Amino acid sequence: MTNTEQAAASDWLQSVRWNSLKDQLDLLDQRLLPDEIVYLELTTSEQVWDAIKQLAVRGAPAIGIAAAFGVYLGVRGAFASREELLAEVIRQCEYLATSRPTAVNLFWALDRMRARAEALLGEGATDVPSVEAAQRALLDEACAIQAEDEATCRAIGEHALGLFEDGMGILTHCNAGGLATARYGTALAPMYLAQEQGIRLKVYADETRPVLQGARLTAFELQQAGVDVTLICDNMAGAVMQKGWIQAVIVGTDRVAANGDVANKIGTYSVAVLAKAHGIPFYVACPLSTIDLNTPTGADIPIEERHEDEITQGFGKRTAPQGVKVYNPAFDVTPSEYVTAIITEKGIIRAPYEANLKKLFQN
Ligand code: MRU
Repeated sequence: MTNTEQAAASDWLQSVRWNSLKDQLDLLDQRLLPDEIVYLELTTSEQVWDAIKQLAVRGAPAIGIAAAFGVYLGVRGAFASREELLAEVIRQCEYLATSRPTAVNLFWALDRMRARAEALLGEGATDVPSVEAAQRALLDEACAIQAEDEATCRAIGEHALGLFEDGMGILTHCNAGGLATARYGTALAPMYLAQEQGIRLKVYADETRPVLQGARLTAFELQQAGVDVTLICDNMAGAVMQKGWIQAVIVGTDRVAANGDVANKIGTYSVAVLAKAHGIPFYVACPLSTIDLNTPTGADIPIEERHEDEITQGFGKRTAPQGVKVYNPAFDVTPSEYVTAIITEKGIIRAPYEANLKKLFQN
């Protein structure tokens, strides 16, 4: 079966797919969407690193899932001892962590892979599996991270849907959909669940400059699912709010700081300010793995800066003068005072965020 036939055989496109027959990672190349459905066939951790860096796989949870499989790909060879295998797991985790800096799910997934390896292979390990058994257990761990993310996203969608009513206009920015996760997405999960339940939501998708995740991915995946979606340019968000077409904004996030500040795709902050000016609730949807209590505030979140070509020739043709100065941060930070609520798999969190986010991890 070709890639396209395989994709058509399923009613949804899986961004990260473990291929057990070939012992390889099949990764949907999101750079080519919506024109082409191509799965990259990855067999090394270096290829996974590259795919994350170049945005072939993107979206915080999907990056974490891909990296977890990357660890396995990096350590599935022959090792003389359990100690050597553990040392290589640690090395691979450190290496994959350098692919992108902002989405904390990447580090969360790598920490989980490392913790699993230490439990299996470290000094305090209770049972002592062989090198081969430990390698299989690491693959199982990556599969578990992916399976749990699907269930988590569905739970987020259930909580979020409770905030919406039939007929509402909902604006979203970037892509926090099925393509950015194992399935359903975070911000887009309520739209899929609404669709299942016959609740009609009218979604407005910001196109999301510079690399158009809103146009290429959000509009694409919602349209495929039959959700009512309207694409707008980023600079139209204020106008559609002013017309009264938007009753809620919902976005994903790459990292929530301990005080409730949220980093998400560049442009999110402007949308949050616009929402506040129009009295529209601004919701952020994310799994607990995106909440980073070790990062005190938004100012402490590392913000990735990307190549100037994304802005000067993002459409394949030069759209800016040669030599012009360019600033291209991939994310911005929305201060918590603009965030109406954070929707997680454990429920809906409201201010005071510092205290309420902490409680999430206490029980
Ligand atoms: O640069 P990207 O495409 O990885 O940015 C993705 C986003 O900003 C998403 O909104 C975020 O990762 C949440 S995905 C559920």
